[in-house]
Amino acid sequence: MAKSKIAFVCNDCGADYGKWQGQCTECSAWNTVTEIRLGPAATARGRRSAREGYAGSRAEIRVLKDIDLVQVPRFGSGFAELDRVLGGGLVPGSAILIGGHPGAGKSTLLLQALCHLAVGGAALYVTGEESPQQVAMRADRLGLPVDKLQLMAETEVDAIISAAEEKRPRVLVVDSIQVMHSEGITSAPGSVSQVRDCAAQLTRYAKQSGVVLILVGHVTKDGSLAGPKVLEHMIDCSILLEGDQDSRFRTLRSSKNRFGAVNELGVFAMTDRGMREVKNPSAIFLDRAEDPAPGTTVMVVWEGTRPLLVEIQALVDDSSLGNPRRVAVGFEQNRLAMLLAVLHRHGGIMVGDQDVFANVVGGVRVTETSADLALLVAVVSSLKNRVLARDLVVFGEVGLSGEIRPVPSGQERLGEAAKHGFRRAIVPRANMPKQPIDGLDVVGVGRLADVLQALF
Ligand code: TYD
Ligand code: MG
Repeated sequence: MAKSKIAFVCNDCGADYGKWQGQCTECSAWNTVTEIRLGPAATARGRRSAREGYAGSRAEIRVLKDIDLVQVPRFGSGFAELDRVLGGGLVPGSAILIGGHPGAGKSTLLLQALCHLAVGGAALYVTGEESPQQVAMRADRLGLPVDKLQLMAETEVDAIISAAEEKRPRVLVVDSIQVMHSEGITSAPGSVSQVRDCAAQLTRYAKQSGVVLILVGHVTKDGSLAGPKVLEHMIDCSILLEGDQDSRFRTLRSSKNRFGAVNELGVFAMTDRGMREVKNPSAIFLDRAEDPAPGTTVMVVWEGTRPLLVEIQALVDDSSLGNPRRVAVGFEQNRLAMLLAVLHRHGGIMVGDQDVFANVVGGVRVTETSADLALLVAVVSSLKNRVLARDLVVFGEVGLSGEIRPVPSGQERLGEAAKHGFRRAIVPRANMPKQPIDGLDVVGVGRLADVLQALF
């Protein structure tokens, strides 16, 4: 009889160890290393499939130039926003991982997409978390076409694969990968070895059969994918559905995509009729109060392939603490501290004894440096209690020596601002448009001091 193997694996990052230890040396997490037993069945099956896959017919070696460039045939998911994030639609044989907090709307979004896809070809929805009745009730309430979608409540991967082999769907959704288990592995569902093995089996099946595999994944409190990081290596596309519980807007962002650009942003709204696409996100994030208050301004961020107008707010207040607070919601805290230091040294404005709170309106998360200038302008506006013009947009990166650095796609950003009725823009000098833009008065600036002089 084959001996079963024992391994010690970190539940967070998937690192392997020969013996147990309290802290994972790879990711520094405590108490995450657990013992797992790799069943003999799994190793035997692994060996067999490896033999079947590779022996006999070795793939031929060719020069890159000789390979036919057939266009990857894609098909739409029914949601233009989702298709854009995926790089232009679903690619047969690809594996997509969609992550998000509980309640973000992953199941709703996929159910809606799949009900519409099922009309044009077979689609299989595997639910491991909800009962068939719950899924059917939701589809009914959302008024989705329910007569074609195939539904299966199953958590056993081999059963799912054999069902898929029988029904031959174009798209297979597995909700969620954390509750799946495989016969050969004895550890609990959701543990590293289970998730890894189940995902590997499913992606292998997707590659062989050409089905589009969509895996739903849960995320932990800090926003990273629960379970092993190794999952991200197996799949072709990793997208994250994000949004505050109290905001109805959800953003979809890809962090890895083998078939398109990353950091494309798709915007959805959770309504009582399910997820709705937001076609013109700038208009929504800009839903502003009639009379503007000090401390708010509008910036143009660049998301994937399009500009987005977002409002940024700052509140500066006398601090009662020895160590004043710096709180940033929607962008990086350290960047806020750094920019305030630049403001002091190169703008001559001291906020060392003030609490500074900054917020990006609408729950958008800005990862771009083009928000720097708008943030500082909002801070100064709040500090001096001076209202900024409603029709002003500001963008630009701020360097450590107080210089205003150019950002990519300046022309397109200004075009978007003009389209939404803005009349004045303060931008880095190198981003000045070659031709004047209709109705927009653009001011190019080189140093932080120039900006403060122009505005305050
Ligand atoms: P769900 O898709 O179940 O989230 P996930 O699968 O990511 O955990 O979405 C659940 C949330 O969405 C739930 O809190 C209720 C809300 N919701 C609506 O507001 N409207 C709707 O039409 C639906 C179906 C859900
Ligand atoms: Mg769900």
